[in-house]
Amino acid sequence: RQLLWPRDRSLPPEVFHWIPIVGSAITYGNDPLGFFFKCREKYGDVFTFILFGRKVTVALGPKGNNFVLGGKSTFFSAEDAYTHLTTPVFGKDVVYDVPNDVFMEQKKFVKVGLSVDNFRAYVNMIEEEVELFMQTDSAFLTYQMNNINEWGCFDAADIMSQITILTASRTLQGKEIRDNLDKSFSDLYAALDGGFTPINFLFPNLPLASYRRRDEAHKKMSDFYVDIIRKRKGTFDDAQDMIGALRSQRYRNGRQLEDHEIAHIMIALLMAGQHTSSATGSWALLHLADNVQAQESLYKEQVEYFGNSDGTFREMSYEEMRRLPILDSVIRETLRIHPPIHSIFRYVRTDVAVSPTLSAPAEDNTYVVPKGHYVLASPAVSQVDPKIWSNPHIWEPTRWSDPEGVAAEAFKTYMDENGEKVDFGFGAVSKGTDSPYQPFGAGRHRCIGEQFAYLQLGTILATIVRKVEVRLEPGCSFPEHNYHTMITMPKKPRNIRYRRRALD
Ligand code: HEM
Repeated sequence: RQLLWPRDRSLPPEVFHWIPIVGSAITYGNDPLGFFFKCREKYGDVFTFILFGRKVTVALGPKGNNFVLGGKSTFFSAEDAYTHLTTPVFGKDVVYDVPNDVFMEQKKFVKVGLSVDNFRAYVNMIEEEVELFMQTDSAFLTYQMNNINEWGCFDAADIMSQITILTASRTLQGKEIRDNLDKSFSDLYAALDGGFTPINFLFPNLPLASYRRRDEAHKKMSDFYVDIIRKRKGTFDDAQDMIGALRSQRYRNGRQLEDHEIAHIMIALLMAGQHTSSATGSWALLHLADNVQAQESLYKEQVEYFGNSDGTFREMSYEEMRRLPILDSVIRETLRIHPPIHSIFRYVRTDVAVSPTLSAPAEDNTYVVPKGHYVLASPAVSQVDPKIWSNPHIWEPTRWSDPEGVAAEAFKTYMDENGEKVDFGFGAVSKGTDSPYQPFGAGRHRCIGEQFAYLQLGTILATIVRKVEVRLEPGCSFPEHNYHTMITMPKKPRNIRYRRRALD
């Protein structure tokens, strides 16, 4: 049909495919960025592809990001795109299970729990958790043996995933979750996580055992949180964690959050922060292992700011953490090449006009994206676009901190044209919807966990680098992206060799 039928010129061009319904699902699923770059060459910045029967219109580049992420929620809906995936996992009455204005109120409640006061308390808790992990987990056996000449080895993603959940539960999630982490809670988390996959997104109603396990795990986890909330009632609750913050909040109409709403928001935060942060931490550690110069600069920064004269380190404070240019640029650069979320979807609620070049104003708006399509933004594409960045695929943290850095100039120029101030400080790069750099998204659905993620990742990386040197395994190349998981992970092997530093 595609070959014989002239295409409807009011619609964006459709990516050629042989198999109806399946469409471009396989090519997209294996390598979404490669697929987008190829389609851009052939069709331009706006095109539609078929994804198991769904029509997905992609809008690329900073203007494409702006079109999708800056679009009005009456046109583009996140809840219609995601609720079938998220509601069975997070639960009823929160996030995409409620109208957008209610969710926006819930996001404000969460922001109260992400306060600077709480963050101040978290830095040392995270440091302690990482130290305890390194002193006790078998992956760090040679470190524990105190021998500075012995190399050990661990899987970057396995280690990071454990450290991430330990540190998130010690801080945001709260004492009760941390205390149960070695017990029932981690099994529930694993079962719930098994229901948060691309398969669940694409096929919400399959009769699979994993779907049943997901539903059972959700019920038990929800009950677990509700039980914590009930036990806290009647006690003086000064916990500097998210449950404490949510318990004190009221909707605009004066209603307090119900216990199950708090429970479900806590599950949503657990799921939103776990893989995103642990994937970023894994990529950062792998790059540091691969780039000894960057690793040593990071270590020296720690010595300069926190080193005692006897070779030990003093504790970090939140205020100091915010002013470490090398640590900051290591995380920032890692998120540029490895943003955990490669595709951001919205459901199209009403026909929307768009120009093929995504230019405004609307005179050359020759395409209509029809109601019922999905639109897709991929900031991951603009973050490695050679039109914007020099050497886009090279991990080069200095591009953020050094005015002569390889791409800082191009990026600054781009931002200046749009009148946005570029401040290379902690978490302060433009948050505009047309920024080429959006690892945390943009617009009304922008991430609220960014500051926490920087704090968590920064403290974890700094603590590890203070204690051990890391290297890639000899003969192993840098891992490729695995796009088959919800969050872009490093493919195996992703082993890191480490050796205790003499000065620890
Ligand atoms: C939204 C990325 C960590 C909570 C988002 C979005 C992105 C993102 C791209 C936008 C999704 C969309 O527009 O559909 C990241 C990255 C992280 C991270 C890269 C870490 C490196 C966290 C953490 C939390 C969190 C730690 C919780 C403490 C949220 C929430 C939303 C969100 C609540 C809002 C969803 C919405 O409004 O629809 N994140 N995130 N994230 N994230 Fe994060």
